[in-house]
Amino acid sequence: MGHSVTILGIESSCDDTAAAVVRGVPGVGGGEILSSIVAGQEDLHAAFGGVVPEIAARAHAERLDICVQRALEKSGVALADIDAIAVTSGPGLIGGVISGVMSAKALAAGSGKPVIGINHLAGHALTPRLTNGLEFPYLMLLVSGGHCQFIAVEGPDSFKRMGGTIDDAPGEAFDKTAKLLALGYPGGPEVEREAAKGDAKRFKFPRPLLDRKGCDMSFSGLKTALRRERDRIVVEKSGLTVQDRSDLCAGFQLAIADVLTEKSRRACASFKQTYKTNTAIIAVAGGVAANTLIRTQLTDMADAQGFTFLAPPLGLCTDNAAMIAWAGIEQMGLPDFDPNAEIVARPRWPLDRDAKPMLGSGKKGAKA
Ligand code: KG4
Ligand code: ZN
Repeated sequence: MGHSVTILGIESSCDDTAAAVVRGVPGVGGGEILSSIVAGQEDLHAAFGGVVPEIAARAHAERLDICVQRALEKSGVALADIDAIAVTSGPGLIGGVISGVMSAKALAAGSGKPVIGINHLAGHALTPRLTNGLEFPYLMLLVSGGHCQFIAVEGPDSFKRMGGTIDDAPGEAFDKTAKLLALGYPGGPEVEREAAKGDAKRFKFPRPLLDRKGCDMSFSGLKTALRRERDRIVVEKSGLTVQDRSDLCAGFQLAIADVLTEKSRRACASFKQTYKTNTAIIAVAGGVAANTLIRTQLTDMADAQGFTFLAPPLGLCTDNAAMIAWAGIEQMGLPDFDPNAEIVARPRWPLDRDAKPMLGSGKKGAKA
């Protein structure tokens, strides 16, 4: 067994500024989180109903130093005793990614430590290795505000994309729905709270792409369907009642949960067929994994498919730097690990290099 290493992780690719110190043995599952500091920016973006990239980048630049300092203090490890600095170098909002990369490079220049560039999605995908010491391969459903994909995690640097959204991510759909219904930001928790008081059967929302084979998903039409129902009610009754709003939220949430559940069922079946593994696990990450209905439906689906459903603690499902530090440890365990590799900030960086670009991913190819 190799030596244990201690890594400082830095994350700033979206709207959370985070730093963490994690210890583990490269190549061996299961790590120890010595500290994990997350400074959210929800207050800064709430008025806009979504993340404003320029505001996010500036806030990261202002907060990174303090987060790093707090993470080191809390861990009781001095910068001099850190083995390497792992930083998210993509994909994400480029201003934030650059803030993090510059900050990591400055720390490295001052301390003489190596810097490891980490793919943010690899951080999410490898989290079950950190928390539960899972063996490869396992299936991962990543559902956040910016991403939605099924990934077969074959190794620290080997990912197969089994399907994903062709337009909006579910978190984005929750956020837009909340905005349409004059609820707060972020929308997911608000819509979930309203939905608890609503009748999910009153409105018949579509289940997009269920008629198409495979694991690809689409969520943007759902938001349009909701807007149409809202406008119809407003024309009919010149306004929405509290009950109308709750019923809309409940119907919308159930539609998202149904699509995620059915596509996850297909992903499980396909994973089992491809990998013929006895330890069939489906893990989730991303903020949407906080949703109780979605969790319950996925747990039931997993049971029926002979899979174990695994959800890391919520603070490790959403954006954090412990997952980035851990991904750094995993990188160090690779035979071709190069501590001197050049770190470049990449707004687009698909996890699966062989996957075909998704619809809407533009001329430059897949974003993630
Ligand atoms: O993973 P995350 O913290 O950030 C990234 O997008 O990377 O996910 C945030 C997203 C937001 O869109 C938020 O509305 C959604 O997760 N979310 C939820 C819930 N809690 C957060 N969506 C549905 N139900 C929830 N309880
Ligand atoms: Zn994320």
